[in-house]
Parts: sequence; C-alpha cells; structure tokens
Amino acid sequence: MKDILTAPFVEEMRRTTANMYRLGWDERNGGNISYMLEEAEVREYLNIDAPLRTIPTGFNAQPLAGKIFIVTGTGKYFKNVDPDPETNLGIIKISADGSAAELLWGYKDGGKFTSELPAHLMSHMARLSVDPENRVVIHSHPTNTLAMNYVHELDEKKLTHTLWEMCTECIVVFPDGVGVLPWMLCGTNEIGEATAEKMKEFRLVIWGMHGIYGAGKNLDETFGLIETVEKAAQIYMLTAHLPRINTIKDEEMKVLAEAFGVEYRKDFLNL
Ligand code: 13P
Ligand code: ZN
Repeated sequence: MKDILTAPFVEEMRRTTANMYRLGWDERNGGNISYMLEEAEVREYLNIDAPLRTIPTGFNAQPLAGKIFIVTGTGKYFKNVDPDPETNLGIIKISADGSAAELLWGYKDGGKFTSELPAHLMSHMARLSVDPENRVVIHSHPTNTLAMNYVHELDEKKLTHTLWEMCTECIVVFPDGVGVLPWMLCGTNEIGEATAEKMKEFRLVIWGMHGIYGAGKNLDETFGLIETVEKAAQIYMLTAHLPRINTIKDEEMKVLAEAFGVEYRKDFLNL
C-alpha cells in the first residue's frame, strides 16, 4: 500500500487549512472541513474494512452509509494540520446503519471528528440531493464576513444584494446567493438540520455572528466561494462608513449574470 501522507487528498487538506489559517479566518480551532473521498482512491492507501475505532455520531447519517470522508478533528488548530496531519485529521467511513463513524486513519492522539459533524454530514446529504457532484463542506470564521454580521441586516435578500454590489464577479461566483441563519448554538444537531435545510437552496450559509458554511465539488471551488464572499465583505467593511458615490446597478448585475449564463436569484435584485 502507498503511504497515506503522499495521497493527493491529504496534501490538499494540508494546503487548504494552512491557507485559511494564514488568511486569519481560522483562529485557534475555529473552522472545520469535510471532504468525501472515492472508495477506490482510499483503497490505494488504507484497508477500508479494518477500522481503528468506531465513534458514534449522535445522529442518523444512513443515506451516507459506506461513504468515506477526510475530516478535521475537534479542538484541532488549522495551523497544526500541515505539520501533523495524522493527529489533526481523520479519515472516517460511515457505518452501515449510519449511526457511527469508523475511523480508518488519523486522530492519532485519541481525538475525534469536528463537533460540527452534524452540520457537515447533513449538509452533504442536502447538497447531494440537488447536486450529485458535491464533495466538500467547509466551515470558517472569515474576519470581514463576521464583522459584517454586526452592522448589516441578517436578511438573505439584503445581505446577498449588498455582497453582489461589492465586486463585479460576485453575482457570477454565487448567483444562488447566500442563505442566513440567526445566531444558534453551534455543535448541535439542531444547527445541523437548519444548515442542511438552507443547503438545499444555497451553497453558502451564514451562521449569524459565528461564521460561514460553503459547499462545492472540490476544495478549490468551495474555498473560492467563501473567499469571494469574504472579499466582498471586506470591501463593504472598508466603505460602509463612507459616502457611497458609485455602485454596481441592478441592471448591470442582470447583464453580468446573463453574459456569464448563470442561473441567478432574480428575486434578490430590485428590477
Ligand atoms: P471544532 O474544533 O469542533 O471543529 O469546532 C470549531 C468551530 O468552528 C465550531 O463552530
Ligand atoms: Zn465555528
């Protein structure tokens, strides 16, 4: 068998967590990532039928039975993933009845998957029901996105509209807009269920005064979604207190969406 540390999916996780840490989005243990892997690619590195331990999930993930994910560990710091992936990451297979995670590799110090596993796996189920190619869910605490939560109404239409106005490419990158949840207790099945409900409609979900969730086909695409929201939020935070002289108009956003051929939330524009 090949050395797991040379697996492209482990390298991608190391690179992504290091990037997010350096951008200041994931302080301490803030943020978590889950990435669904192909069984055949995992078999090149691990015996997927010999779990090291079995860890209950506390919710029903039966639709994902047999699926394998690489997931950041709870309480683990993104900055430490690159130097020590085997302690800070784990590879889990969802048990046949969907009630547990079979640990195939990682969490070397006896740790376990992120406390946000309910929101991750429930979001995977929700996204897969509308997009069979979805593989990744990322949760993060990007600085400007979070700052904006304190000074902007937490309304899906208004927040999406403001973000779209901040950079020309926003409506092209996230034409489906941004879903919003009010402040809720994190790490629970309830916030997981609420996030998944939003994920049927949006690939981006703001957790009020906490952070953001993104979902996509791969790590790059999902990271890029959050990165684009964060850039727009940064422009907002740099300009919200200044007189606005120019803006991208709604008719211009419509022209953009049509030119790039994206299905956008027409009800989020005021035309
Ligand atoms: P974990 O350390 O359990 O992944 O939690 C971090 C976090 O961001 C909680 O929302
Ligand atoms: Zn968080």
